[in-house]
Amino acid sequence: MILLVNACVRKESRTRKLAEAFLSEKDRPVTELCLNELVFPSANEAFLAKRDGLILAGHYDDPLFDLARQFASADEIVIAAPYWDLSFPAVLKQYFEQINVIGITFRYTPEGIPEGLCRARLLTYITTAGGTVVPGEYGFGYVKALAQNFYGIPEVRQIRAIGLDMIRTYECPFTGTAEDALLIESDELRIRYFMQSDLPKMLKWLTDDRVLGFYEGRDVRYTPETLAEDYLEKIPDGFRMIIEYRGEPIGYAQAYQLSGEMFEEYDYPDHGETVFAMDQFIGVPACWNQGIGTAFLRLMAAYLESCKGADCILLDPHQNNRRAIRAYEKAGFRIVRSLPAHELFEGKKEDCWLMERRRKC
Ligand SMILES: Cc1cc2nc3c(=O)[nH]c(=O)nc-3n(C[C@H](O)[C@H](O)[C@H](O)COP(=O)(O)O)c2cc1C
Repeated sequence: MILLVNACVRKESRTRKLAEAFLSEKDRPVTELCLNELVFPSANEAFLAKRDGLILAGHYDDPLFDLARQFASADEIVIAAPYWDLSFPAVLKQYFEQINVIGITFRYTPEGIPEGLCRARLLTYITTAGGTVVPGEYGFGYVKALAQNFYGIPEVRQIRAIGLDMIRTYECPFTGTAEDALLIESDELRIRYFMQSDLPKMLKWLTDDRVLGFYEGRDVRYTPETLAEDYLEKIPDGFRMIIEYRGEPIGYAQAYQLSGEMFEEYDYPDHGETVFAMDQFIGVPACWNQGIGTAFLRLMAAYLESCKGADCILLDPHQNNRRAIRAYEKAGFRIVRSLPAHELFEGKKEDCWLMERRRKC
């Protein structure tokens, strides 16, 4: 059982939606605990005395310990908490005060060192922040320290999307700092806005025939000037991104919201939904066939769905690009229809598939 500890407050919480998108990839049952629906007892002196008495008497089946027992027995923990005042909503701290029970979630060794008693091997902390100055030490850092030092959960990961309340009118290239440029990150994968300093890397990728064979075409000859002209141009209703893996830029993506005749171009009905389309490539061949493309698409789709209100995301791979289609299917996209002679590529009009992923959260 996966335990979702939901510390989100708002009805339309983006953090909650991001957690849902993340959990929709899992095939195990999820038990959700909405912290805002609980009434926590005051951790006052009487409460502490009662709790100490129950622990001393070994009455671990007392209802006072229900939350601690539930946490200790979960196979996997997911915590969804918005970024509030450099950490998280107070209700999550109240929750930790309830579940930190000696004899259930941890114990002390004779040397006085805490030792975890929880079954989970993985805790994923999911957060979203309004701004871009988002130090992690009091939020994620605190939860990670608790999980590893007290509960004995060895693997602790974070998924975070930032800058969601800022009006980041996207100019191309993005002119803020590298930290400001972050959109979303998870483990070793980071998606950020494209910046002018990315142009040399892009030139390397887009003059490599192995890459051009899938993106743009091997008849394309970029110079620094023509590349800058093409990739510094703003995309209407969209933005350009760099994909980083283990701290290194490895690929490029662009996403844009469909409007007007773009629906016809994709042969997709305009029912007033928020529909995004995306193009992407991994420019480092050594990173192909490792599941990075799938992981990128899952993360990006979760971002567009939870933080940008996407009802649906479209892709249009060449029909003969089997590797890409397989990766897209693994990321929750499915083929909807054929788009004959859809894209001019190496002098020929290529047939493409229209693929869609619909929002589940
Ligand atoms: C009480 C409160 C405190 C907040 N503190 C911060 C903060 O310190 N830094 C920041 O970047 N955003 C802050 N925000 C903005 C939230 O992080 C942002 O709106 C987040 O996406 C909310 O998540 P939700 O959509 O799941 O509610 C705060 C919001 C609230 C309501």
